[in-house]
Amino acid sequence: MAEINGISYNRYTPQDHAGLNRDEVLDFLFKHLDEYGDKREDIAKCMDYALSSAEGKGGSVLVAREKNEVVGALILNNTGMNGYIPENILVYVAVHGRTRGKGVGKNLVQMAIDHTQGSIALHVEPQNPARHLYEKLGFSNKYLEYRLMR
Ligand SMILES: CC(C)(COP(=O)(O)OP(=O)(O)OC[C@H]1O[C@@H](n2cnc3c(N)ncnc32)[C@H](O)[C@@H]1OP(=O)(O)O)[C@@H](O)C(=O)NCCC(=O)NCCS
Repeated sequence: MAEINGISYNRYTPQDHAGLNRDEVLDFLFKHLDEYGDKREDIAKCMDYALSSAEGKGGSVLVAREKNEVVGALILNNTGMNGYIPENILVYVAVHGRTRGKGVGKNLVQMAIDHTQGSIALHVEPQNPARHLYEKLGFSNKYLEYRLMR
């Protein structure tokens, strides 16, 4: 899809994900989300939702590769709603520890924005430096998020 500074970026969707190695990208996200990650099975659910062509589901999976090795990945889910709830949720983005600070995270989020219609929500822990990345790309935080955990 694109090549920037020797890193290739590919976008997989419900209509076109034949070339995606699901386990490779799941393993990558599980490892490189660090303390901001989830259980592997939850990341798998998010990816399967993104690649589902069922009504109201869908989204995209973006993968950055350097010399064929995964160095970054992002998953965006469509919510199936609009207006009162944003159309999309950016659920996961991670860049390999040794590749951080070189613009890969920014390229992934920018590509997600460029290829998506409607608003994009995301949540981030207050102490996560990923906030800087989101704010630089125009995300703002108007709300506090509360959850009733069950
Ligand atoms: C968040 C993350 C994806 C950023 O990826 P990255 O490739 O290192 O980010 P980039 O190099 O594209 O940086 C983009 C911008 O954010 C800023 N930024 C990124 N990390 C930063 C940090 N730790 N402190 C301050 N600014 C930071 C950069 O300065 C850059 O701004 P610039 O374009 O003005 O120079 C990466 O740090 C990561 O994988 N973290 C662990 C997983 C995580 O927290 N994911 C998000 C929650 S789901």
